[in-house]
Amino acid sequence: MKKVKKAVIPAAGLGTRLLPATKAMAKEMLPIVDKPTIQYIVEEALASGIEEILIVTGKSKRPIEDHFDSNIELESNLESKGKKELLELVQETTGIKLYFVRQSYPKGLGDAVLQAKAFVGGEPFVVMLGDDIVKAKVPLTRQLIEGYEKTHASNIAVMEIPMEDTNKYGIIEPESKVADDLYNVRHFVEKPKPENAPSNLAIIGRYLLTPEIFDILENQKPGAGGEIQLTDAIDTLNQTQRVFAKKFEGTRYDVGNKLGYMTTSIEFGLEHPEIKDELKDYIIDLAHQLEGKTSSKKVVESKEK
Ligand code: G1P
Repeated sequence: MKKVKKAVIPAAGLGTRLLPATKAMAKEMLPIVDKPTIQYIVEEALASGIEEILIVTGKSKRPIEDHFDSNIELESNLESKGKKELLELVQETTGIKLYFVRQSYPKGLGDAVLQAKAFVGGEPFVVMLGDDIVKAKVPLTRQLIEGYEKTHASNIAVMEIPMEDTNKYGIIEPESKVADDLYNVRHFVEKPKPENAPSNLAIIGRYLLTPEIFDILENQKPGAGGEIQLTDAIDTLNQTQRVFAKKFEGTRYDVGNKLGYMTTSIEFGLEHPEIKDELKDYIIDLAHQLEGKTSSKKVVESKEK
């Protein structure tokens, strides 16, 4: 069995859900507290034993390349001022085996992954989407690699979502349970309307795939939204070899939309050693203020009745 060593991070999306912030800036560079979102993803890959990472970029993605490169001027400035801790933070993101390829046209997630064909070669690999940050005891990518080591097959991360949200995700039609957290899948469907959705088990942005996916992607016709969908290619792969869905352990943060971005920032801020205490006090004060307002509004309403 081949070892899983490579990860692909598609970062070529337009980030329309976060406009106008993403007009000139890659959404992957937006920070959660003090780290760009993509750094959390790269850290998960490294913590899972991944050795080489390909980032598929598009327009306005130069800052991603710069972020993971050295910055000699900044580093010597911090060194000369004796700012050792900051220097270490800046150097943390260098020395990783990172590669970049450009997707010329935003034709969809399936097409972005196809750009990784030469990099991946004939090995199993993982795809990690930047919108999903996952906190888990065992990093989610590691959980999928362990799934591959047991099943020798593709493993896709899924979680339960509210039924009314199925049109935002790839959804699985489970066939049978192989274990408590592992499903055989009949079909993978991209963004079905709730009335057509075969379940509420949604694909979350981590996939462990066998390399046969590339031959399928090369011939994949556009699907939902007129885009080449990875989910459609996975559905085809599942007709010739087993693709398991793994209900994962951990908490998922969707940082690709405004509300998710804000709530993730707050939750991560509440764990950040530098700001957690003051942020907590601020939130408690704010909650009191809001409570005051809500109750005074209620009083007014009840008086009006
Ligand atoms: C993509 C995938 C979808 C998956 C989702 C997870 O959709 O196409 O199958 O469920 O990521 O975040 P997007 O969020 O890019 O529209």
